[in-house]
Amino acid sequence: MTEKNLTPVAWPSDGIAFGGDYNPEQWSAETVREDMKLMREAGVNLVTLGVFSWVVYEPTEGRFDFSWLDGMLDLLHENGIRVDLGTPTAAVPMWLHRLHPEILPQDTLGHPLAPGGRLGFCPSSPIYRRFALRVVERLAEHVAGHPAIAMWHISNELGGGNARCHCPVSTEHFQRWVQRKYGSIEAVNAAWGMTFWGNSYSSFEEIVTPGGITAHNPGHLLDFERFSSDALLEQYRAERQVLKRHTPALPVTTNFMVGMGPDVVDYTRWAPEMDIVANDHYTYGLDPLRHQDIAFSGDRMRGMSDGGPWMLMEHAASAPSWHPINLAKKPGELTRHAFAHLARGSNSVMYFQWRASKSGTEQFHSAMLPHAGSDTRAFASIQQLGSQLARLGALTDTIVTGAQVAFLHDNEAGWALRSGLKPINNPPYAATARALHNALFEKNVTVDVVAPWAPLHGYALVVVPGLFLASDETAQAVTDYAKAGGTVLITWFSGIVDPSNTVRTGGYPGAFRELLGARGEEFVPLAEGTSVTLDNGWRAERWSELVHADSADVIARYADGDLAGFPAITRRTLPSGGAAWYLSTDLVGDGLREFTEHLLADAGVRSVCATSAGVEAVRRASDTTSYLFLINHGEAEGWAEASGTDLLTGTRHESRVTVPAGGVAVVQEV
Ligand code: GLA
Repeated sequence: MTEKNLTPVAWPSDGIAFGGDYNPEQWSAETVREDMKLMREAGVNLVTLGVFSWVVYEPTEGRFDFSWLDGMLDLLHENGIRVDLGTPTAAVPMWLHRLHPEILPQDTLGHPLAPGGRLGFCPSSPIYRRFALRVVERLAEHVAGHPAIAMWHISNELGGGNARCHCPVSTEHFQRWVQRKYGSIEAVNAAWGMTFWGNSYSSFEEIVTPGGITAHNPGHLLDFERFSSDALLEQYRAERQVLKRHTPALPVTTNFMVGMGPDVVDYTRWAPEMDIVANDHYTYGLDPLRHQDIAFSGDRMRGMSDGGPWMLMEHAASAPSWHPINLAKKPGELTRHAFAHLARGSNSVMYFQWRASKSGTEQFHSAMLPHAGSDTRAFASIQQLGSQLARLGALTDTIVTGAQVAFLHDNEAGWALRSGLKPINNPPYAATARALHNALFEKNVTVDVVAPWAPLHGYALVVVPGLFLASDETAQAVTDYAKAGGTVLITWFSGIVDPSNTVRTGGYPGAFRELLGARGEEFVPLAEGTSVTLDNGWRAERWSELVHADSADVIARYADGDLAGFPAITRRTLPSGGAAWYLSTDLVGDGLREFTEHLLADAGVRSVCATSAGVEAVRRASDTTSYLFLINHGEAEGWAEASGTDLLTGTRHESRVTVPAGGVAVVQEV
């Protein structure tokens, strides 16, 4: 396992942070007084304030008034509630749109977004930047030293709607970005392979953002994704610089939207810029594996915080409102989801939002306090959760332990995959990762989902799942790891291109071919609804590949289809005792489960503990104490082999903990 660090910054709450986005500007003074009472009753200790309040602070151009904020900060402070204060720059005031319509981002056809909504700015616009930094400066200087403020929250979900801008300002910014990266236009032509279709440039001024109606070059597309992420990061950094000048001791973050990926911006490369990494995570009610989606994103967040604690900044108390049908959470799911995030290393349970809005775009999004008020089962569940969390203060001194498996995940690989035409177009990046992660999740094997440049020593198994783009450094790190005795699994369509999105020739997967001792010469994708069978009975879909096992053992062969008789799964033993597995197809069902069992046994990976089916088990520990999170996602009573005292009920368990159907337990272990 890698070195795990506790966060060096002051955590914004005592104990687990509990609360959510608070938008009191939408409500009367009387309602706000009721909010204070109900927040105290629920045990809320942190709220995110002011995220969309630019026009409240600056109602007309250049006229600032922070009296509303002063009153709110004092009131929250009197009520013992700390504040994660937003910079309001996601909410461009309508007067600014009127004064400067040119700050609106433009789509691929050059149409500006409509004013209103949010994030209505071009990330490269110097005009927007000037106005945004002015309000941030005035805000930071005004509130500096206020005891209620525990941290800063820059903007909101940067890139959520404005991540790819094609306006003239962005185009020019992109040209400068490309010039800085490559130095000469010849280098750009070479990196992107512009000789194809005779697209070579003779000067940087000819480079446009990849938009319009045409098929673009994969290298060009990938660099535009990188540029777009960098342009938004510049905005984050500029705001952070202002905040650090006025309030150097306060942690600064912005809320990520981390799921399966690829992300809208490159969160993994942004993470080091955050004092605390924070995530907004929303489940999709129709996803039968939504609890595993929480686990996967939590394992990614932990990877981004080097194993230390991270913040769940937002999730939903029940249904969101952006799907065609928005399913309410099932009974007990609110609690299970909160504990599932905590189990993966979050030290907070925060929601969007405290009180359900009666107007505006998200008037039907669920909240901690529903439209129907406090005399509801929804609010009772929130109160119950608040009282449970109050018993878990000791958890903040712990981190998730016991991950013996690393999954390599990189947004650039996902962006490269969707940049340009592929044997299978639009395969979702990380689908393979999530399927394998689920197979391990079912066995209660804890996984760290980490960047390819993360240290790998100490893991028993490293999985490279569909990592389409791999740099030479990544290939070397994985190879070194296996040469040092580690076990590696490379899956199909990994290591195919280099960081320029150029195919590594000489046999697939170019980056890992030597390590694997196996070589693919041809992709043979499978039509939807069809499958192949392997000679051991396992079934696979979507993908197959004509592979030669030059210096690897064949574990299974294709038994039917066009590749019958050719290797499907290979394993090479390295002199060190390490092993390099290649999975050239997309196993499903029992085949995937059985394959995973073989792999775990080969690598010597153990489960956190034995449980009945459907019980999730994750361990968090300090140097002295360990706590076992048990979450029963099933509909029958479950169990886990463990001993200790359940912090939630005080019940002592000897050797076997029972977990009620749909219930949770946090066992302080003996
Ligand atoms: C995101 C945003 C919130 C809200 C929620 C719910 O996470 O940050 O402002 O829009 O989604 O839709």
